Amino acid sequence: MKLYMVSLGPGDHELITIKALKALKDSDAICIPTKSTNNSFEKSMTYKIVKELMEEFGFDKPIIPMYTPMKFKQEDWQRQVDTILDSFESYEKLSFVTLGDSAVYSTVYYLLDIIKEQKNEVYEKCEVIPGVTSFSSASAKVKKPLCVGDSSFLIRPLHKSKVPFTTVYMRPKIGMNTEKVKEKNSIYTFENLNFQGEQVLDYKKKSVDKYMTLFIDFYEPK
Ligand SMILES: C[S@@+](CC[C@H](N)C(=O)[O-])C[C@H]1O[C@@H](n2cnc3c(N)ncnc32)[C@H](O)[C@@H]1O
Repeated sequence: MKLYMVSLGPGDHELITIKALKALKDSDAICIPTKSTNNSFEKSMTYKIVKELMEEFGFDKPIIPMYTPMKFKQEDWQRQVDTILDSFESYEKLSFVTLGDSAVYSTVYYLLDIIKEQKNEVYEKCEVIPGVTSFSSASAKVKKPLCVGDSSFLIRPLHKSKVPFTTVYMRPKIGMNTEKVKEKNSIYTFENLNFQGEQVLDYKKKSVDKYMTLFIDFYEPK
């Protein structure tokens, strides 16, 4: 059993990663969310991207519709999880697809929380594949950076004003003491990510050894 949580990027199928494309090709079937009660994909951007990829890269996989009313209800996520888990009766490897990047306001983590609790072996073998966000794409379109030099940037949901947040700390100085990074939630250290000597630590390193270090203080629901 293998589950890929595949980020599809911001709508242009050419903005998918090679890793995401390989995951889709490696899957026996692809689970695609749809807001239509009749499981149609007429208005689905995710379906359009997957179809374009299949066409351009010459592969064809069965599509499993996942009814997703976007009402943020536990029962809706549970139904999607049930669809995924039931599909493992027929298929060995599955992909679930999401727009943009899975790390940003995506269904992926609602589903993974349930899967972790109800079928831990699927959770353990699951791979989350990151993607290009809508705001990275927007920034590139107008040739304006999201942050540069001494600036930073915020992502703020419009449906609510006061919300807890995750903080990403970047651009440390080698040798700096991290005492002034005051963690609020659950902080991780990422060093040389995806390069030789990669380290992922579920705590804040006391001092910075590498310029390629970032800290993420992840918001975690209590
Ligand atoms: C549920 S969030 C998903 C975000 C997505 N995971 C990402 O990485 O960008 C949906 C919101 O992202 C923004 N969004 C996503 N795709 C977009 C696009 N192609 N154009 C404009 N905004 C987009 C809109 O603000 C939309 O309400």
